[in-house]
Amino acid sequence: MTITEFISQRELAARIAAMGAEIRRDAGSDTPIHLVCVLKGAFMFLADLIREIGGDVTCDFIVVRSYAGTSTTGQVQMIKDLGHPIDDRYVVIVEDIVDTGLTLAHLQEVFHTRRPSHLKTVCLLSKPSRRKVEVPVDYVGFTIENKFVVGYGLDYGEQFRNLPYIGVVEGMA
Ligand code: IMP
Repeated sequence: MTITEFISQRELAARIAAMGAEIRRDAGSDTPIHLVCVLKGAFMFLADLIREIGGDVTCDFIVVRSYAGTSTTGQVQMIKDLGHPIDDRYVVIVEDIVDTGLTLAHLQEVFHTRRPSHLKTVCLLSKPSRRKVEVPVDYVGFTIENKFVVGYGLDYGEQFRNLPYIGVVEGMA
């Protein structure tokens, strides 16, 4: 199995800086922004993104497990919920990748019921050709083809999260 570099560190940094600025601009300079990081995959993205959003920013973490399984709807289990309430807050969900869209659709549904003042979503990567459900994503870092990618927080069997770039796995079993 080999990993080929696909999105470099430099490209990631430039795009994330632009997204951070856009998120702040849309929220307004005085609005406290609350980032909700979806673990584990988004931890590195969160760490870089939060430094690119100026002003008042807080963050929280959730852990989800997705089962693509055999069912068409899939199943998403929240292993660790938010540590703090989000009612009346300007919330931005921070995800690593939108693939089928099932994880994000589920999270948006759950968080909407908790009545944030705003619920936005930022995803580093999107694979639109794989979508099973349409899900709104306000900020997308890179739109990619149907390739399995690793690195920069993303794993294959818990490996490769430490790569500083996004790579494509070739010769997967
Ligand atoms: P969903 O199919 O949109 O629900 O995506 C669920 C999760 O699958 C994502 O948050 C990722 O953690 C994982 N995932 C999807 N595609 C990839 C990939 O290409 N590499 C690594 N993880 C992926």
